[in-house]
Amino acid sequence: MPETTGISDQTKKVLIGVAAAATVAGVGYMAYKSLSGSDLDSDLETIKSLGNLKFKEKNYEEAIKEFTRGIEKAGPNTNNTLVAMLYQNRAACREKVGHTSFDILNDCLAALKVDKKYAKAYLRAAKALNDIGKKQDALAYLLAAFTLDSNLNKANFEFFGKLLTVEPLSDCFIGKPLKIEEVKPAPVALFRIQQWCDTWDVLDLFKTDLTKFEPDVLSEDQKQYQLALELFKKGKYEEIINLLTAENNYAPAMIFRGKMLSYSMDPNEATRYVDKNGARINEMIGNEENEERKKLMRDAFDVLKIELMYTMEAVDKFLQSLPTDDKERLFKLNSFAAVFVYNGCVLDTTCSSHEEQMMADTNNANRLLEEAAKHGTLTPHLTMIAAFLKLCTCEDYGDVHRRIREMEELTEQRSTHFNLILMAKVYMMTNNAESSEKLLNEAAKIKTRYLVPSRHLQTADLHVHKPEDERLRLTTASANAALEVDPYNFSAHVLHLLGTNGPEPYIKKSNYDQAMESIRKAALFAPPRELLMLKRMIPLMNAKKRAAEMLDMY
Ligand SMILES: *[C@@H]1O[C@H](CO)[C@@H](O)[C@H](O)[C@H]1NC(C)=O
Ligand SMILES: *[C@@H]1O[C@H](CO)[C@@H](O)[C@H](O)[C@H]1NC(C)=O
Repeated sequence: MPETTGISDQTKKVLIGVAAAATVAGVGYMAYKSLSGSDLDSDLETIKSLGNLKFKEKNYEEAIKEFTRGIEKAGPNTNNTLVAMLYQNRAACREKVGHTSFDILNDCLAALKVDKKYAKAYLRAAKALNDIGKKQDALAYLLAAFTLDSNLNKANFEFFGKLLTVEPLSDCFIGKPLKIEEVKPAPVALFRIQQWCDTWDVLDLFKTDLTKFEPDVLSEDQKQYQLALELFKKGKYEEIINLLTAENNYAPAMIFRGKMLSYSMDPNEATRYVDKNGARINEMIGNEENEERKKLMRDAFDVLKIELMYTMEAVDKFLQSLPTDDKERLFKLNSFAAVFVYNGCVLDTTCSSHEEQMMADTNNANRLLEEAAKHGTLTPHLTMIAAFLKLCTCEDYGDVHRRIREMEELTEQRSTHFNLILMAKVYMMTNNAESSEKLLNEAAKIKTRYLVPSRHLQTADLHVHKPEDERLRLTTASANAALEVDPYNFSAHVLHLLGTNGPEPYIKKSNYDQAMESIRKAALFAPPRELLMLKRMIPLMNAKKRAAEMLDMY
């Protein structure tokens, strides 16, 4: 008998008891662990494989049974990735056998509850959400899927595009930008003034008056008009509306006021003003004795009317109503309308997307310029635009080359700021960044009040292929430079948006706030076509934000 250690039998018993208990507990513990851990997991792996096999054999009902068996078997400590897969796979089977989108969605959400980084489940959830009409939610889930797995991006791009569409054009809010808090002083859209100035080579009363306005006797109203012209030359557009009050009764001043209203934050105000005073203005134009001046006034008023049109249909109708024997008038108004349409200022209500609208603008503008050319000779500026429009609608390769050559010749003949920028754009479109940069540098040497933002915007294009960080930084710098010249240039704000937004399908809080601010400001003066694009950006930003929130990345 071994020597005792002095421990009483009682104590021994207790110790043995504890040891035994410990052993029992240990066994129990081990058993539990294996059931909830590796053993159960491997059980579930087997079930999953079985389910997948049935799925491959197109035996979807059986597959659902397998996945359900797995789901029911899973315990609180089961491998979450695995459980999520069972749910997601079951959702895939449900799709095949036509279960409701709600059932599919529920499985996807259950999968995401246990594994919030499961790309496939986000993707499937997005499809189910779309099917039940929740496009906005679908977009957020889709972006989360893209964030987690960039490979999904390409394959689902069409679906993504579908989720981005905006409401039909007919309900667009033309003339009324998004709800924008009051901006002081009330800004004027340089962008819209510009196309008027762009067509000055064929127009019009104000161009003539800006160079020489010398009535014999100045009435008070005429004095105001003269002062307004001075303000215009200085670029103090906002002040013109305050100066030329609704009481001014001098026809050119009234037309000028109408124009400035149409460039302001509320173009509808211009429509109301013209509706109210149109008859009176027409009467005064009719009474003008100087034939030359009478013509200028009539053209100016008609240009203003075009500027207040919001649909292609209205523009066409107006142009067709012009007397066909007045060639000069047909030439002027068609030319102006072409530039107006080219800039996206009217909507073609048959289009349902931004891309379609852009194409329609090109075609419509092209058509109008061809019509203008029947009645007169296009100015060098309009010739350049016509060549560009032709290039954009070219169908074969040889044609593209011919058009580019044509534009190059025009630019060589007249290296104006406008031509250089448009040519730089064409080079960029044809991946010739080097030539593009050269022309932009040349344009930068020309002093001009207009189009400076365009140059910055075009310059930003040069950075497209640079490394992402650099691209964002340079883009923001270009946007800021453009905004310094024109704080309400919608494109510059859009550019700013591109500078805070990388290609990532999610967005961080600081960028989100900035992006929404850019959209808001851009919407202030976006031409109708671009409003469509901005309308799409808002849900996109919101979805990017939600995607980031779901993934804890916001
Ligand atoms: C959980 O299951 C997944 C899928 O089978 C597997 O890839 C992963 O390694 C498992 N994780 C653990 C901790 O076992
Ligand atoms: C504002 O942006 C547009 C780009 O669409 C550009 O054409 C225009 O020239 C810019 N405004 C001014 C005043 O240059």
